[in-house]
Amino acid sequence: MTTETVRVELGARSYDILIGAGETARAGARIAEITGGRPPVIVTDANVAAIHLPGLRASLAGAGLSDVPAIVLPAGEGTKTFAHLERLCEDVLALGVERSTVLIALGGGVIGDITGFAASILLRGLDFIQIPTTLLSQVDSSVGGKTGINTAWGKNLVGAFHQPRLVVVDTGTLDTLPKREVLAGYAEVVKYGLIRDPAFFDELATGEAERLIAGEPEARRRAVAVSCRIKAEIVGADERENADRALLNLGHTFGHAFEAAMGYDGRVLHGEAVAVGTILALDLSVRLGLCPADDPARVRAHFRAVGLPTTPGDLSNAEWDVDELLGHMTRDKKVKDGRITFILTRGVGTAHTQRGVDPARVRAVVADAVAGRV
Ligand SMILES: NC(=O)c1ccc[n+]([C@@H]2O[C@H](COP(=O)([O-])OP(=O)(O)OC[C@H]3O[C@@H](n4cnc5c(N)ncnc54)[C@H](O)[C@@H]3O)[C@@H](O)[C@H]2O)c1
Ligand SMILES: [Zn+2]
Repeated sequence: MTTETVRVELGARSYDILIGAGETARAGARIAEITGGRPPVIVTDANVAAIHLPGLRASLAGAGLSDVPAIVLPAGEGTKTFAHLERLCEDVLALGVERSTVLIALGGGVIGDITGFAASILLRGLDFIQIPTTLLSQVDSSVGGKTGINTAWGKNLVGAFHQPRLVVVDTGTLDTLPKREVLAGYAEVVKYGLIRDPAFFDELATGEAERLIAGEPEARRRAVAVSCRIKAEIVGADERENADRALLNLGHTFGHAFEAAMGYDGRVLHGEAVAVGTILALDLSVRLGLCPADDPARVRAHFRAVGLPTTPGDLSNAEWDVDELLGHMTRDKKVKDGRITFILTRGVGTAHTQRGVDPARVRAVVADAVAGRV
């Protein structure tokens, strides 16, 4: 299979996303070019190391980079902390790095986020390369330069914008990803269709989703490439989220509330919460008279067909507390002057930001969803 290249245009900080099955094996020379022939440092997690580290090392060795050191972190969201960041920085420094040393993030969004952040602060800024191994990280977190860790005050509250030099998406790594993680990542794929590309949504909803989830190489390559192209366009126009980049948060304000209410303990995956959040954002759009009621119905039917959750009850049998959920929404970092910015839609394929939405409408959407009335 050939490589598909998507370019992220950011002036001097532009970079390529290489997409294809078996891309890791092909990327050694390209990586060696970026490291200037010097050995990089791989950062990965324990799950990914066991499966995909040997392949990356072999590819690098083929390009003259042998015995590349790897720092292996524990898997999971709990790794995105100050404590792990400190350990990681110390471990990288212990290897005797220089300003020219390149870090390679091999793993999902957790590894990409903490490694990118470490790269942004080590020696005041090292280059880094993303090799995302989850569907979510391949279509979303590895592109765009947002890096960071969580604190007790919330997710991703400490971080930096630091763009990678290269993103290598080996869609073959998804063969070993648990199906639940694939589905969670798929919710973000749908997001791109909903905000920018109605034809892409139609394609997904009429068979392409099943092919992608079943692991068909061509369906994977295409879905990742379309998603990355849309993200690259949006990030290229608004790197720091002053305007349109916020559209990528469709479903996330509601979604984060469910994640926060569960304490980010892994029982609800980010993409699952986003799936439910997306349905609520569409529902709010209908109630505000922006969008025909058919559109949320189509999206809900599609999520159900592939096995994604669509209601809070699908996420957990726990009693959801409406006030608590609304409280989490107003503590989201996208809140400005105490007012929430919502991403709303006038139909599949268009999205816009809206402030000053009547809080009573928002409450009704959440309350009806929690009561199973949606
Ligand atoms: N920076 C951004 O723009 C951005 C965007 C969206 C999400 N995020 C962040 O991404 C994180 C979530 O990322 P994620 O969903 O990739 O989670 P993750 O990194 O925790 O990976 C999910 C699980 O899959 C395992 N895994 C990874 N690749 C595998 C493979 N190929 N085979 C088998 N197992 C594998 C991991 O070890 C982990 O247990 C969150 O912290 C979120 O905040 C960041
Ligand atoms: Zn997301």
